[in-house]
Amino acid sequence: MKAEPCTYVIFGATGNLSRIKLMPALYRLDAANRLPGDTRILAVGRRPWSRQEWQTEVRRMLDTKMPGDVDEAVFQRFNARLHYHQGDITQAQCYAGLADTLNRDGQFPKNIAFYLAISPADFGPVAEQLNNSKLFDEQHGWRRVIIEKPIGYDLDSAQALQKRLNRYLAEQQIYRIDHYLGKGMVQNVLVFRFANVLLEPLWNRNYIDHVQITHSEDIGIGSRADYYDKAGAMRDMLQSHLLQLLTLVAMEPPVAMDAESLRDEKVKVLKSIRPIPREAVHGHSYRAQYSQGRIGGEQVNGYLQEEGIPADSITETYAALKLYIDNWRWRGVPFYLRTGKRMATAQSAISICFRHPPLQFFRGTEVQCMNPNWVLLGIQPEECIRMEMTVKEPGLEMRTRVTSLDASFRQRNEKATDAYEDLLLDVLKGDRSLFLRFDEVEYAWRIVDPVLQTWMMERDYIATYPAGSWGPEDSRRLFDKESQSWRNSLIPECN
Ligand code: BG6
Repeated sequence: MKAEPCTYVIFGATGNLSRIKLMPALYRLDAANRLPGDTRILAVGRRPWSRQEWQTEVRRMLDTKMPGDVDEAVFQRFNARLHYHQGDITQAQCYAGLADTLNRDGQFPKNIAFYLAISPADFGPVAEQLNNSKLFDEQHGWRRVIIEKPIGYDLDSAQALQKRLNRYLAEQQIYRIDHYLGKGMVQNVLVFRFANVLLEPLWNRNYIDHVQITHSEDIGIGSRADYYDKAGAMRDMLQSHLLQLLTLVAMEPPVAMDAESLRDEKVKVLKSIRPIPREAVHGHSYRAQYSQGRIGGEQVNGYLQEEGIPADSITETYAALKLYIDNWRWRGVPFYLRTGKRMATAQSAISICFRHPPLQFFRGTEVQCMNPNWVLLGIQPEECIRMEMTVKEPGLEMRTRVTSLDASFRQRNEKATDAYEDLLLDVLKGDRSLFLRFDEVEYAWRIVDPVLQTWMMERDYIATYPAGSWGPEDSRRLFDKESQSWRNSLIPECN
């Protein structure tokens, strides 16, 4: 697929997402010569800025995000693409003016991508206004809309939003971002599975004991109290990013690598996840909130002391879930998912634990207990694919140690690309493989809704864990077997 010149219209262009992710990603795409020649970027904002003031602001954003990394010649080219439209997105004249600007001769390519980097509550109203101003009309070029989670608050609200968007847009015009799918290592999960035959015969319930998917962060909620306290870890991370990772680990090979085939297989996984009945919620889920603690040698606040958080909030900053996929490949294999803020380290990883060999073959030697094999897929900050094996220690004794085969994803001299670079480019190409189809969102809500509903009713108590720890000890109770425990590290844990 070829990237076509387009106008990127960015709503919420002065906000955080745009500052930290979108503008740097667009700049980097330009630096890599991946933005088609005529591409324009039109920011929509409330502030009364001139084009030049906006350009100066963007320069500031880039210098802050990537100090010393902005190339003058590239910036000149990028700068010429930047435009500003001042308007209040709640007012119809903002859109009339926008339509006028966009339709003005020649300046702006007729393919238009609208990036709604705004509050999800505004997705519907903004789409309606764009539609009223005929800006979704595809007569002279394609029109695409990019939205990002939270897509709804639960199943009902996600469906209501979808119904509203459907009034103005066809499904193929909607690009739902889950930025995890833009991460290089996440895409590598697919390559690792489907471009290598080695593990495929073992990738099932006969050989795999359980799977863990962890996303831990050492940061707290920063200035996002308003959003986060209403969302919590389950909605913020688990319903979206972690379930997406699960689908990639568990899916069957798609018939082709096109968007629909890929998403069909992901949906099949989500559909096969055993529903959690209300009475089993406690056996399948765990929630907790961080209390004061130390991170990197510094004392940090507990969640309840964070600015803007009500003193009696029971919002979870840690969520864990045990899921079963009821299909031939995975029946009986638990998938443990967990995420937390203010944990010991920032790390995302998929850890696959294989079964123990059927016999303790080396009984009667010094080999007391055989370690299971693990396949570890580090997503960030360390990007790696590692396979742990037991080998004999050198020497006369029959002793073993765990060693790992390393198929590192990136060489030191190869630069990482940010997820948004990939995704923003895919929009220009019209490639929706790495974007969510609505049924994926829907099934993901079906999985977590019973847990969220139970948690909502139980408002008296929430467990806590000290900031800087690996989360509450008690979350161990999710494990099916004594031999299972959270895997916190990508290097061999026991020898
Ligand atoms: C976002 C969540 O979707 O993902 C944040 O809203 C979280 O709370 C972030 O910090 C994590 O993304 P990344 O790319 O930093 O791992």
